[in-house]
Amino acid sequence: MGSDFSGNERHTPVMAEEVTEFLTINPDGVYIDGTIGGGGHAEVILDRLTDKALYIGIDKDATAIDYCKERFKDSTAKVELFQGNFSMMYEIAERMSVKGVDGVLLDLGVSSTQIDLPERGFSFSSDGPLDMRMDQDSGINAADLIKSLTERELADLIYEYGEERHSRKIASAIVNFQKESQLRTTSDLSSIVKRVIMGNMKTKSLARVFQALRIAVNDELSSLEEGLSAAIKLLKKGGRIVVLSYHSLEDRIVKNRLRDLSKSHIEDPESPTGYRDQVKELKLLTKKVIKPTGSEIERNPRSRSARLRAAEKL
Ligand SMILES: C[S@@+](CC[C@H](N)C(=O)[O-])C[C@H]1O[C@@H](n2cnc3c(N)ncnc32)[C@H](O)[C@@H]1O
Repeated sequence: MGSDFSGNERHTPVMAEEVTEFLTINPDGVYIDGTIGGGGHAEVILDRLTDKALYIGIDKDATAIDYCKERFKDSTAKVELFQGNFSMMYEIAERMSVKGVDGVLLDLGVSSTQIDLPERGFSFSSDGPLDMRMDQDSGINAADLIKSLTERELADLIYEYGEERHSRKIASAIVNFQKESQLRTTSDLSSIVKRVIMGNMKTKSLARVFQALRIAVNDELSSLEEGLSAAIKLLKKGGRIVVLSYHSLEDRIVKNRLRDLSKSHIEDPESPTGYRDQVKELKLLTKKVIKPTGSEIERNPRSRSARLRAAEKL
């Protein structure tokens, strides 16, 4: 697998204090951490749990699961770890005969550990294979995904998932590059983007192109939609969901879903009034999105784009 979480540079958990505050930890409760990663948030939450509690950790990345198995082998609460997609958390809980949970945490995206390992291909700042799969044992990597797309499809992907307005120019340059040679590495892709984007927008465009590919390779937005449904279905009355997102596409999905389920009527174009009544499922705990403080951003610059939203099951 060639990568692990045991390096010196651990992922620093983002807004850990706010996360635990919104989860209002029940010391004997059942919690699902859908994105356990290096276990940064898990450690903070596990510190507050007793031996009656259960902590279910999920991650697509097998190396994260192996690392957390070791890290939490002596924890007081029972810890169960699963390699897989958090969109499957309902099935995972069912398999364990867990009928309801006190809290679900989703800390979306990739960890610093994954970004900092060049061989994972997530970063445009270092050279590595153009992979970007969170689960290295399945799915198509970024290089093969690009190869499978037409220029038009590639441009649409970069525009839709990267919100990059030079998407057509970049897609055309990538397709031209592939006529002459093979697109294999993060450096191949970075140099193409750098050649076609002028001036000081290079880094922003690079970030957007890499984000777009990562979202597509890992099918991140559908997983989020499905994961939110599963999490809300699993929460007990009074149970809480806390989601940390890192770009506007995922934040919009979280915001709309939590807001829609906390209303007693929603828009329905088929109804004569344009609205239909519904039973409120959630109470919104974050009317305004929560952002990291200036001092957290200073300590951990990677937290700067984080947005926290939370809700309680009614
Ligand atoms: C930001 S990191 C989580 C860091 C963790 N909270 C900590 O404090 O160490 C996100 C993790 O979620 C995983 N991940 C992202 N999307 C996932 C999904 N749909 N299902 C399961 N794991 C996912 C990634 O592999 C990564 O390890």
